[in-house]
Formats: sequence, structure tokens, C-alpha cells
Amino acid sequence: MRIKVIGTGSALPAKIVTNEMLSRIVETDDAWISSRTGIRERRIAGEETTTDLAVSAAKAALEDAGCAPEEIDLILVATFTPEHCLPNTACAVQAALGCRNAAAFDLNAACSGFLFAMNTAQAYVEAGIYRTILLVGAEEVSKVLDWEDRSTCVLFGDGAGAAVVQAREGEAMRFLQFSDGAQGQVLACMERTAENPWHTAEKPPKTLTMDGQAVFRFAVRRVPECIRQLLAQAGKEPEEIDWFLLHQANKRILDSVANRLGVEEGRFPMNLDRYGNTSAASIPILLDEVRRKGILKEGDQVVLAGFGAGLTWGAALLTW
Ligand code: ACO
Repeated sequence: MRIKVIGTGSALPAKIVTNEMLSRIVETDDAWISSRTGIRERRIAGEETTTDLAVSAAKAALEDAGCAPEEIDLILVATFTPEHCLPNTACAVQAALGCRNAAAFDLNAACSGFLFAMNTAQAYVEAGIYRTILLVGAEEVSKVLDWEDRSTCVLFGDGAGAAVVQAREGEAMRFLQFSDGAQGQVLACMERTAENPWHTAEKPPKTLTMDGQAVFRFAVRRVPECIRQLLAQAGKEPEEIDWFLLHQANKRILDSVANRLGVEEGRFPMNLDRYGNTSAASIPILLDEVRRKGILKEGDQVVLAGFGAGLTWGAALLTW
């Protein structure tokens, strides 16, 4: 059995923060940010919580799919920025939408989170356990940024995207996923320590820390390697793929992946100029955008690829 995407949705905070607005709070400018990253503006949450964004995106995806809340068997929310630990965001989505027959849990694989959630959905469908699954990627990275650190605060944005997938007859979606925990320190958000009446600990920074160049080298090497491996398993060449929907971290990373695969950049849709890096939300927001624009046609071969903290990375080959 394979999964088929039957509906998508997305939700973004109302507040637009341009590069020029950032140049008023840290020493940066539009020329540096746009030439190094391709980002021109991003959305930053105000009153909206991670759960609010997740619920709005999920509601839109359900409507788009024409799917009743009771039909959902499982809700997976990929996030590393929930507004609280418990209850998990997936259960909050379940309650808000009335998906009373669903099991619901969160999954954290940082920027690879939505892709890993989709792979998990495929595995459940293939095993015959669930039939209709709601997938959400929702992040408020703005909550964990050091707004005085120009090397990180300019890169990220907030938002959520969602997809409803359903079991269909046919060959399972192929996917690969990898992790390298030994390199975890290159992109981290440590936040919590054991603090109790018997133990005090030195507090690590609560905000996100990143070795940008190490992340860049990791992404431009591992992502094309992983996509090539996936396509080889499917007996396909990169030129047979209609669309590459990649995690929207940085235009230079995406251009480099396209170049290494020998595929023209036009087959790598991008929206990072408007939303920045929204971590686990970036792939489903992009998926929703290209689907609503009518870019994806029945039967198109679509590669999804994610990469991020952990380190984690992976790719999937979806027949639209
Ligand atoms: N504005 C102006 N100058 C800046 C800024 C800024 N916002 N940030 C850094 N600089 C300065 C640095 O201080 C440095 O100055 P110096 O030479 O005087 O020391 C100079 O610019 C060059 O800094 P580098 O870090 O070498 O810049 P680089 O060209 O590597 O670009 C970047 C930095 C954009 C972060 C790049 O390394 C990158 O894209 N890395 C990938 C990281 C990424 O995409 N992370 C997203 C999260 S991870 C994920 O989603 C997978």
C-alpha cells in the first residue's frame, strides 16, 4: 500500500519582518542576508501559538481533503518548538478539530521532522495499521532565537503546514532517513537541565546555537547523496523527477543540491524568500503552495528532502 496526499493546508503568522526591519535591531543589512541566504522576509508570531498555527494548517488540510475529523486515524505533529511539553501538540490539534478516533503524538527531528512524519505514516499504512493520517509541521523558531545574534536570528521564521495522507493500492512510497548524533553540537538548542532540590546545574544557553558553515557543508554533501541513493533504489535518474521539494533553509544550499544532481534550479520550487527557514514547517508549507498553484499534476514524480539538527536528513519519492 502507498500513501497519497489528499489535502494540504498552511498557516502563517500575520507579522511580516523584513531584512530591513532586522537591520534596525542587529548589525546586518538586506544585501548580506539576501545574497548569503535568499531570504527577504519572514513571518514572526505574535499572539499565535505553535498550536494555533498547527490547528489552522490542519483544518485547512482537512477541508481541502474533504475529510471528516472522525476519519483521521493518526495525527503526527513534527515540531521542536511546542509552546509547552505536555500535552503534546498533536493531542491539542485532535481536541481542537474533533478527531476523536485518532491517536496523536509529536515527533522531533528538527528540520527533517515533517519528512520523518511522512515516512512514519507510510510505514503505518504499509503495515495495515492506519488508513488516513494527518501530518503537521509547526514551528515558532522565533521563541528560541537569540535576537542579538545576527548569525542566526536572520535565518528563521514561524509557520505551519499540514497534509492529509490516505492509503491507496500500489507500491509503497520509497524513503530513506538518516541521523548522525555524533554531530549534534553543530545545531543545538539545549534549554533544559536537571534542576531539583538535590542538584543544581550550570545553565546552557536557552537559545539556538549553530555552526553555520558546518551545517552548510553537511547539507550540500548529504542531501544530494541521499537523493541519488533513493533514486538509484527506484531505478530512476534525477532528470525523470518533476519536482524537488526541499527543506527551505537557504537558497545557496538548494542551488548547490540542484547543481550536484545536474537538475535545473526551476524544478526546485522555493518560498524561503518570503518565509525564511521554518524548520519542520517548511516542506508542508511549500507543498501546500505548489499544490494550490496547480503546479503538481496527477502522476508527477516528486522528491521531498529534509535536513537539519540532530543531525538528521532524508528523502522520499512520492507519486502525486
Ligand atoms: N549580517 C551581516 N554579517 C553577518 C551576519 C549578518 N546577519 N551574520 C554573520 N555575519 C558576518 C560574520 O560575522 C562574518 O564576519 P567576519 O568575517 O568579520 O567574521 C561574515 O559575515 C562571514 O560569516 P560566515 O559565517 O563565514 O558567513 P557564511 O558565508 O558562511 O554565511 C550562513 C553564513 C548564511 C549561516 C551560512 O553558513 C549558511 O547558510 N549555513 C547553513 C546554515 C543554515 O542554513 N542553517 C539553517 C538551519 S539548519 C537547517 O535548517 C538545516
